[in-house]
Amino acid sequence: MTKKLYIKTYGCQMNVYDSARMTDVLAPLGFVPADAPDGADIVILNTCHIREKAAEKVFSDLGRLRPLKDAKAEAGGDMILAVAGCVAQAEGAEILRRAPFVDIVLGPQTYHRLPEMVARAMRAAAAPGAGGTAGRGILDTEFPAETKFDHLPETASPQGVAAFLAVQEGCDKFCTFCVVPYTRGAEYSRPAADVIAEARHLVAAGAREITLLGQNVNAYHGDAPDGRGGSWGLGRLVRALAEIPGLDRLRYTTSHPRDVDDELIAAHRDVPALMPFLHLPVQSGSDRILEAMNRRHTADEYRRIIDRLRAARPDLALSSDFIVGFPGESDGDFQATLDLIDEIKFFAQAFSFKYSPRPGTPAALIDGQVAEEVKAERLATVQDLLAAQQRRFNEASIGRAVPVLFEKEGRHPGQLVGRTPHMQSVHAAAPVRLLGRTVPVRLLACGRNSIAGEVATLDDGDPGAVAEDRFCA
Ligand code: 5AD
Ligand code: SF4
Repeated sequence: MTKKLYIKTYGCQMNVYDSARMTDVLAPLGFVPADAPDGADIVILNTCHIREKAAEKVFSDLGRLRPLKDAKAEAGGDMILAVAGCVAQAEGAEILRRAPFVDIVLGPQTYHRLPEMVARAMRAAAAPGAGGTAGRGILDTEFPAETKFDHLPETASPQGVAAFLAVQEGCDKFCTFCVVPYTRGAEYSRPAADVIAEARHLVAAGAREITLLGQNVNAYHGDAPDGRGGSWGLGRLVRALAEIPGLDRLRYTTSHPRDVDDELIAAHRDVPALMPFLHLPVQSGSDRILEAMNRRHTADEYRRIIDRLRAARPDLALSSDFIVGFPGESDGDFQATLDLIDEIKFFAQAFSFKYSPRPGTPAALIDGQVAEEVKAERLATVQDLLAAQQRRFNEASIGRAVPVLFEKEGRHPGQLVGRTPHMQSVHAAAPVRLLGRTVPVRLLACGRNSIAGEVATLDDGDPGAVAEDRFCA
């Protein structure tokens, strides 16, 4: 008999990937994905701890799930409630204390043990004298010696036209504001042969674009496939993946300026499938703040990296993360961030956040925490500037025909949606047969979340699949 599994995913794309893999490991136990938590046999919250708000949302969602679990128990059923991800890792015992009706708490490195935990939870529910809606208190937030990648099913479920593939996990950088090195653990890279095998499988299942994921993806140094003990960096991996027939586009996220090496820059120059879009977070434009953040580069070093990347791939569009109101950030430091943005032009996208003190991180203990109103004001200023840059970037592409990879059907009948090489979301009237194909689309008008376009007809009248570089010159 099939059982229903509902997973709610918070936070980053790594969590989206992990949720898909949790679905994979539970499939052999008969669990099939459901769209809503009501009546589900297992509900998993795959959580994010990066900022305070994300963590607090988990507790309020748990409060909302409790009546659903009670209702299922009253009807004679059983709903297993699990909390996974970085909040689970950081606050495992606290979750069981504050929400004792939770059955399973598991950290991001133990997903391969989930079937065993679920089986234990089911046995506990069936035991004589059990019942009611008390949680079963299963807690597994170890960083096991074996990696989850060695134990997850070899083939991930199909993810459609645009797929994610985790190549690296964890982080050794210890930026002073960030919980990731504590919640995800030490940096680990998957062997290149495993990554290539998973990529081939995704392509065989219909993927045309793969985004390589990692908390610090360009720190990648997986074992080389020749078995001679060497390792590959991300640039080498990208070159190998670009040779997979049927794989049209590659991207990677998220990266660190310190790990942009010559090989990666050369890959941006030489590999047409590597899309001209890069998310390379700088966080701040002030050297003083960069140092306090332990970023281990200056604003000028960042500028020079961007110059080299733009020399290699002139149409490269950039994206970044920014933190405002880091402890000790003065008006002058903040101005340095605005100046850097002005100069570099983070055209395509950018994310900015108010600094949020995270328990256990060094920055939370620094004197000179910035007042909330100041943070709010700086955030509004930086967001205005970034939004204006993004608007200008999108407006400049209006009228051009650009290659769009159609990923899925749109909200309106007869419409498909896809992305440009620069990650802009585009919708256009197009037949379903163009799904999964890269098609020239003339961009017509900027909407709020997406650009309206029309499929541009080629000389032979067929809007067929086209080579990316035909439009990127
Ligand atoms: N406060 C605010 N923003 C943070 N980020 C990470 N930790 C914090 C924090 N404590 C942001 C950084 C990072 C992005 C994923 O989240 O900008 O690049
Ligand atoms: Fe966190 Fe990224 Fe810094 Fe690692 S490099 S500590 S993941 S912000």
